[in-house]
Amino acid sequence: MEKIVIKGNKPLHGSIEVSGMKNAAVAIVFGTILAEGKCTLGNIPMISDISDAFDILTSVGAVIKRIDKTTYEIDTTRIKPCSAPYDLVKKMRASYYILGAELGRFGKARAAYPGGCDIGLRPIDQHIKGFRALGADVDATNPGGYVNITTEDGKLYGDSVYLDIVSVGATINIMLAACKAEGTTVIDNAAREPHVVDLANFLNSCGADISGAGTEMIKIRGVSKLHGVHYDIIPDMIEAGTYMVAAAATKGELTVTNVIPRHLETVTAKLLEMGAEVEEYDDSVRVRGKGMQINGTYVKTAPYPGFPTDMNPQMGALMAIAEGQSMIREGVWDNRFKYVDELIRMGADIKSDSKSATFTGVKTLHGAPVSACDLRAGAALIIAGLSATGKTEIDNIHHIQRGYEDIVGKLKKVGADIELRYVPDDASALNSVG
Ligand code: EPU
Repeated sequence: MEKIVIKGNKPLHGSIEVSGMKNAAVAIVFGTILAEGKCTLGNIPMISDISDAFDILTSVGAVIKRIDKTTYEIDTTRIKPCSAPYDLVKKMRASYYILGAELGRFGKARAAYPGGCDIGLRPIDQHIKGFRALGADVDATNPGGYVNITTEDGKLYGDSVYLDIVSVGATINIMLAACKAEGTTVIDNAAREPHVVDLANFLNSCGADISGAGTEMIKIRGVSKLHGVHYDIIPDMIEAGTYMVAAAATKGELTVTNVIPRHLETVTAKLLEMGAEVEEYDDSVRVRGKGMQINGTYVKTAPYPGFPTDMNPQMGALMAIAEGQSMIREGVWDNRFKYVDELIRMGADIKSDSKSATFTGVKTLHGAPVSACDLRAGAALIIAGLSATGKTEIDNIHHIQRGYEDIVGKLKKVGADIELRYVPDDASALNSVG
């Protein structure tokens, strides 16, 4: 087992580079199935969600070659549909994109129900609604834990789909399925996240005909064939936001590079409101907490362009030490506040239920042994540990490794006293006694 050990209360200083966006990369990696050939993807983040996605693709017949540290060639010429192994698919949430991509290319798909962070109910009814609107027959009665999708004549037919709830996953999956459908598909009430736009840009460069991505109405005119391309994934706005908040929480000063500042507007606005200094440049942002008083604020998370739910826990770590009262209302997931108990162990004063949390800022947090219960909760504990006095030991860090490339190395370079420590399993069992 590995732990992250932090000796906190040190301001972060310097420049930190953001990797490619996890949630765009996982969609595009599965999207290569539609290209029926070789794609070269650049700015791929080296995180375990990507290695898991690569394992799934390889298991169904893709050939993946590393070109350099962040560039991979994926050849999907010889994919065998409906063959993704149950255990691999179950490991990650975004594995459900194999359903949309295989359905789009082969007119059939089969995969296990997906896994992912436990942040609330994660149904796929809207994905299924979309597949059915295109004429597919979806058996989601869960025979053996699988979703089975078939079509009568191997074809899908474009139609209109209204999403009852704004869903990133459903928007992406329907877009994947519809690329080669006969006629035009319209997704109404679509998710507008930058990763939805990035996937549409990737698919269009492969020959698809998608318009309106980034608005609530996406139109996909079916084409007969897609082809391979070179494509660079956009930078990860949540990784960037995490480092921006860390700069404010440690009273430091960080320049966060390889970002698209427009994607960070809500985080920037909240940090400014709280009293941090934020300056935007073409592809970087500078955040200064040094010498500034950080005050409490109110945040309500919502689908893009609202404040991202994936920044809720990191913002919570900052609110725990901000002057006065703060509040977060969660507008997307119904179980996103599990991190609160861990911050309370570190001395935070927080009251929460499943939908909101109220923070009364304390002067400082104190290091403690804590557990990363999900990906962004883990990021929040790192921020809390960096700002706290004393030593914080975070376990369950496989959640963090799913979505942050070399977070320990990157933070070390900007002055954090942080390390990855290997703890033999029996030692961890001893530590957990009592
Ligand atoms: N929902 C339904 N039915 C569906 C699909 C979703 O009711 O068929 C509900 C969900 O229960 C949730 C809401 O709709 O309450 C939004 O879910 P969405 O489908 O948008 O989430 P997702 O696609 O499963 C992606 C990200 C999450 C991020 C959300 C919201 C990926 C791989 N995951 O999840 O990222 O929180 O969008 O922006 O893209 C993370 O990176 O830490 C993470 C959890």
